[in-house]
Amino acid sequence: MTASRQTIGLVLAAGKGTRLKSDLPKVLHNLLGKPLLVRVIEALLPLQLKEIVVVVGHQAEAVETALADYARQAGWKTPLRFLLQQPQLGTGHAVMQLNNVLAKDEAVDVLITCGDMPLIPTQRYETLMSAYHNHTESMLAVATVQYADPTGYGRVFFDDHDYVHRIVEHKDANAVEQQQTWCNTGIYLGSWPTLSKTLEQLGDDNAQREYYLTDVVALMYKAGKPVQAVRWPDEEDVLGINSRLQLSQATSILSRRTAERLMEEGVSINQPDSSTFAPEVQVGPDTLIHPGCVLEGPVVVGQQCEIGPSTTMRGAITIHDHCRIVTAHLEKQVEVASHTYVGPYAHLRDNASIGPTCRIGNFVEVKEAVIGARSNAAHLCYLGDVDVGDDVNMGAGSIVANYDPVRDIKTRSTIETGVKVGCNSVLISPVTLHQDSSVAAGSVITDDVGSGELAIARCRQSTIEGWVDKAKNTTKTTASGKPKQPAS
Ligand code: UD1
Ligand code: CA
Repeated sequence: MTASRQTIGLVLAAGKGTRLKSDLPKVLHNLLGKPLLVRVIEALLPLQLKEIVVVVGHQAEAVETALADYARQAGWKTPLRFLLQQPQLGTGHAVMQLNNVLAKDEAVDVLITCGDMPLIPTQRYETLMSAYHNHTESMLAVATVQYADPTGYGRVFFDDHDYVHRIVEHKDANAVEQQQTWCNTGIYLGSWPTLSKTLEQLGDDNAQREYYLTDVVALMYKAGKPVQAVRWPDEEDVLGINSRLQLSQATSILSRRTAERLMEEGVSINQPDSSTFAPEVQVGPDTLIHPGCVLEGPVVVGQQCEIGPSTTMRGAITIHDHCRIVTAHLEKQVEVASHTYVGPYAHLRDNASIGPTCRIGNFVEVKEAVIGARSNAAHLCYLGDVDVGDDVNMGAGSIVANYDPVRDIKTRSTIETGVKVGCNSVLISPVTLHQDSSVAAGSVITDDVGSGELAIARCRQSTIEGWVDKAKNTTKTTASGKPKQPAS
């Protein structure tokens, strides 16, 4: 690639997306955990572009705010700039907006792509760039694809030397032209000085009364400037999102591609189509994933784990080697150390960190909690805002009562190493159970318990001799008020 000329990325994202029937701007719709536009730009980031310019129009402010926030949080290195296109008079008009920030003769190349095509891999842009740079005379390269059903796309026509001499929009094409299956993807790379001068000649004399970027091709061709076609192999890559159906198709494609990558990397996936995998997901070899899972976000699963069935991991979730996570819901920020068994029906969320060789069982919720090694909460527990040491046992039904609803505050408790908490106990936060202490079942603990001590906080049991027989022989009164005979 020639290093001399720099390339600017131009993402067209001003269109409305009427067919999604949504209050949310089209390019902000979610595709496996990230907005469409984020996925488009992420594919451009490795190309070392001078900057990325996004043309916005419909709900420009919402798009701009969402993108700028995302870029800041993700630490994108490539500078990001927004250009407002108001009103939207077509794709040619969208590119004309670059005149606001570039001099007409600025010696840069422009890579043009669409904000609603989130499936184009970086590698496709690279083939476009290298084809363009290897062809010294080319002023514009157009990425083309053959569609099984080309309805709606601009048709590309080649001359005898395989240069593109014109692109005809579907709505403007006659019956013969509509037979052509090679179509315009809407992705281009061209020299800005040539492009900007040609854009001045654009008119809107067409079916949609728009300034078509595609008309630039014929104008350049007539002026003797060759326009290259770069053929891309896969129409799936250039699926544009205009409807909910296409959004669901894109989700399936991206998930399936990820599942295929994971399987190549040594992961077993039982019925991959029943689960969804975001491209960010990493899974170690010899892990088995059962049906019905959702893995979305920067999820990292180690080796030789068993995940699912029916398990959701959404957010920054890290599962170390040899874990079993069965029918569980993990969200936001969760870390599970090796050899730990979670589930079925466990809920780990918001900064839950579970140590190695633990047991987090059915109907256990863990939140803002650190749990040490070899500790168990095997059934029906709530562990919220608590530091739990090693070798702790939380009996069935034990609860850390972290929330004071009157003052609307949460407080934190500590359960030190070796503590055993009996079933159905409530620890009223803030409270500390010191090392190797014990809490008797059914206790409500409001005060700290010293090391090695037993705390009992419940009524003493009284036993009444002969009570059952006496009760059976007593005449009962029914709801209707009539005396009821004792059972014979
Ligand atoms: C365009 C191409 C067509 C190609 C197809 C590929 C033109 C005239 N036609 O058609 O040859 O086959 O893409 O998908 O270019 N946009 C703006 N401002 C505007 C108009 C559009 O930013 O004024 C943006 C849209 O948000 C979208 C992209 O440009 O991201 C493409 O626009 P769209 O209206 O979808 O183009 P098509 O009619 O599909
Ligand atoms: Ca259109």
